[in-house]
Amino acid sequence: MKLLITGAHGKVGRATSAAALAAGHRVTGVDLARPSFDRPDPDAPRYQQADLTDPGSAFALLARTRFDAVIHAAAIPEPTGNPPHVVFHNNLMGTFNLLEAAVRFGVPRFVHVSSETVPGFFFPERPFAPDYLPVDEEHRVAPQDPYALAKAFGEQLCDAAVARSDIKAITIRPSWVQNDDNYAHNLGPQLRDPDAPSAGFWAYIAVEDSADALLLAAASELPGHEVFYIASPDAASTLTLPELLERQGLADTIPLRPLDRPDAGGISIAKARRLLGYDPKRSWRDHLDERGEPLR
Ligand SMILES: NC(=O)c1ccc[n+]([C@@H]2O[C@H](COP(=O)([O-])OP(=O)(O)OC[C@H]3O[C@@H](n4cnc5c(N)ncnc54)[C@H](O)[C@@H]3O)[C@@H](O)[C@H]2O)c1
Repeated sequence: MKLLITGAHGKVGRATSAAALAAGHRVTGVDLARPSFDRPDPDAPRYQQADLTDPGSAFALLARTRFDAVIHAAAIPEPTGNPPHVVFHNNLMGTFNLLEAAVRFGVPRFVHVSSETVPGFFFPERPFAPDYLPVDEEHRVAPQDPYALAKAFGEQLCDAAVARSDIKAITIRPSWVQNDDNYAHNLGPQLRDPDAPSAGFWAYIAVEDSADALLLAAASELPGHEVFYIASPDAASTLTLPELLERQGLADTIPLRPLDRPDAGGISIAKARRLLGYDPKRSWRDHLDERGEPLR
């Protein structure tokens, strides 16, 4: 496939570009940083600088090349480090402009990287409890913060795009993304302290698994717009979800549905397994011991 991957310099975009190149796809990466005027490395993906909040830049990206799919990972990945209007504007308008351009230039498939936060958890200002766990795609959408709101509206933009054109769209909602450098930093504290709360209900995802899911989505022939949660298959804990909810005093308030496996986290990946063929094998246990310390 000829793929346009936005946010190519970021955590998810880098891993997705690498996986796409390894699989033999042709990749154009997009990000905010300036390109360099050095001889291109023959193995590196083509690179285009663009601020996707600028509609002209979004349209220019798609004007000259007929891409088989766009994987849109560019965004500010959380709401706490920028003013709310910056997060909301950057993330929503980047998605609007790129999707509008994809519709007008007849790109067949748009993969929209949304977020686990859309139902309302991770960054709420007022306490939020899910209606049930593990959360799945049927859970109500009730975002409070500008990041999750922009992601939820981005999912609506995908609904509108498939309604007004032949484009096919897939929204991927990743759990908290981990790469080689940050497993211990991010997950170590909750592994060491089983009483520590977890904003994502002990779900997480290995960045390589998120890349695999995005490539499966880009190659998928599913019609319309489908939404998929993705996470690693196990919880980032040595305890089970029922035990963790019990310790948090949540066992009586959050109904627990059947788990795919005894050590599953708070996000269900059953739909992605069923319709995308997503089959993640990686685990925090590949990187950390049970005290959350790096294995080497
Ligand atoms: N990191 C996570 O835990 C997590 C979890 C769920 C969803 N996501 C989503 O996954 C995607 C990738 O996240 P990440 O962790 O790789 O973040 P990241 O910050 O590492 O990478 C995002 C990249 O997008 C680029 N970008 C931002 N705004 C842009 C714009 N207007 N135009 C062009 N490029 C722009 C940034 O420069 C950056 O390189 C995002 O959509 C994020 O919201 C991330």
